[in-house]
Formats: sequence, C-alpha cells, structure tokens
Amino acid sequence: PAPLPPLKTLAPFRVGACVQALHLDDPALAALLAREVSQLTPEWQMKMEYIVQPDGSFRFDAPDRIAAFARAHGMGLLGHTLVWYAQAPEAFARLDENRIGFTDAYRNYILAVAGRYRGQVVGWDVVNEAVAEDGDGWRDSLWAQRLGAFDHIALAYRTAREADPDAALLLNDYNLEYFPRKRATYLNLAERLLASGAPLTGLGTQMHVAADVPPGEITRMIRELASLGLPIHISELDVSLTRAENKLLSRAELQRRQAAVYAEAAEAFMALPERQRFAFTVWGLRDRDSWLTAENAADAPAIFDNAGRPKAGAVALAEAF
Ligand code: XIL
Repeated sequence: PAPLPPLKTLAPFRVGACVQALHLDDPALAALLAREVSQLTPEWQMKMEYIVQPDGSFRFDAPDRIAAFARAHGMGLLGHTLVWYAQAPEAFARLDENRIGFTDAYRNYILAVAGRYRGQVVGWDVVNEAVAEDGDGWRDSLWAQRLGAFDHIALAYRTAREADPDAALLLNDYNLEYFPRKRATYLNLAERLLASGAPLTGLGTQMHVAADVPPGEITRMIRELASLGLPIHISELDVSLTRAENKLLSRAELQRRQAAVYAEAAEAFMALPERQRFAFTVWGLRDRDSWLTAENAADAPAIFDNAGRPKAGAVALAEAF
C-alpha cells in the first residue's frame, strides 16, 4: 500500500497526541510526532502533582521541555490541566494557607502556571473531570469543599483568563459517550458557567473508549456536545481492546471494531462546522506509549504499532480527514 500522508497534513484542524518529556528522548517517537501531529498535550507533567513540590515550590523543567519541543516543531501546546480532583496533593493543601489564605493559594497556582505558558499554549483544560462519576452532580474535591462545588470551577476560569487573555479555556471529561446522564450534567455545568459569565470557550471529550462501544454513541455524543455552539476537542482518544465488555469477541474482531471506532470518531468530528473543530487528540501515538499498555501489556489501543507503522485506526483517520 502507498505510505500514508502525515495526519496533520490531511486534517483541516490540529491533530494532537499526548507526550511525556521522557518520550522525547526516543528518537523514533520524536520523529513520528514531528511527522504526524500539530499539537502536544503533556500527559502528566503539567498537572499539579508534578508541578507542586513537597515544600510548596513549583517546578517547570519537564513541561518547559515539552513546550520547547512543540515550539521547535511548530506545534500547538495544549495545557493539561490546572484543576483536577485526582491531583490535589498534600503540597497544595499546605500552599501558604495561613499566610495568604486558601483562595489566594488556589488563584496563585493558576496565575503562575497559566501565566508561565501565556502566549505558548493554544488552550487549557482548566478543570478536568468536574462531573461526578455516576453523572449525578459535580465531583467532590478539596477545592469544592473549601471554595464551593460550582464557585471553585467558575473561579478557575476567571483566573485562567486573567493569566492568559488569548488561550482557549476548555472543560474536559470522560465517559460522555457511555453515560447520557453524565453528558447532560456536563452540558448543564457548561451552560451554568456561561450564564455566570465564566470564560469557558470549548468542550473537551476525552474518549477513553473500548473497542465494543456501541456504534452510534460517539456520533450522538459529539452532536449533543456541539449543540451549545462551542468548539469541541476530542482530547484523549484511545480505543482499548482489553477493556471491551464483551469477552467473547476474538482479538481480530476487536481490532476490526477498534478501526471502526476511530473511523466513527473522525467522521463525527468532520461533520461538525469548521469553527467547532478545535482539535483531535490521541492519548499516545504508538501502542507502547499508551498508559493502557502500561496497565495491561495485552492492550494495543493506539493508531500506530510499536514500530511506528500505521494501524487500521490511522488509515481510518486519514480517510476521514
Ligand atoms: C493519565 C496518564 O496517561 C498517566 O500517565 C498518568 O499517570 C495518569 O493520568 N484522564 C485524563 C488524563 O485527563 O490526564 C489521564 O492521563 C487519563 C485519564
């Protein structure tokens, strides 16, 4: 077969992948990233867990490296993420609480991080996974308890805007294709933020899906999210073989469905009006780079194989773009 043109040259929007600073030491991966993608998301080194040190100081070595790589290759940088319940280290709880107060510590963190990358990022996942797991309301967290379930979210958007006047400010969440109830709560949060004047400018849907996600659900989700009129980011797409619910499906059948899922995601995204296509990001370019493979070596969720050859998923994206 003829070699596949680079995905970033086919797509009329940014094509992204996540990356860790360490990955950039792998020349084969660095070359594949440079060839295929036009946007990078730091996989975890822009998270609070990485940035906030035990003594409360901040470190930016790894995120700076990723930012420099993106800049050197003319790629967009997607900041991920300012506020995430799963990354509220003790260090944050201690951040100068007595001297400046919790609200200022929270604001200072956002101002410092979003301020440092001002002019470098195309956008931020300002609040990650704000909706409760079962879709029943908003998630509990350190910040929800101290600043209010809604208020801490709205404050994060206002503060991020203060730090960076131009960045897209996104909301990001997962399982939105699986749980219509969670999707409704997510959309409700977005509407409430907009109504309160918070500068939310786009909606991210992670899309950590399994190969047996029922056909049609991804399309339905993307259409529904788009109904608010904001740009949509497919922000962390991967399609797991080993997380499939249906344990009777053969590996070959799962691989076939995996390609069909990538195709459905790409086609549904392409069907959006151009101004609503923020970017299309996969969570790991090669199978071996994926967090899912780290968890289960039998998984192969990505669009490139371990040697960097395009799998059927990459072909499906190329055809759709
Ligand atoms: C994951 C990374 O892939 C892992 O390397 C890290 O240890 C934990 O976080 N939703 C998100 C991502 O928004 O930040 C998560 O990334 C995957 C789920």
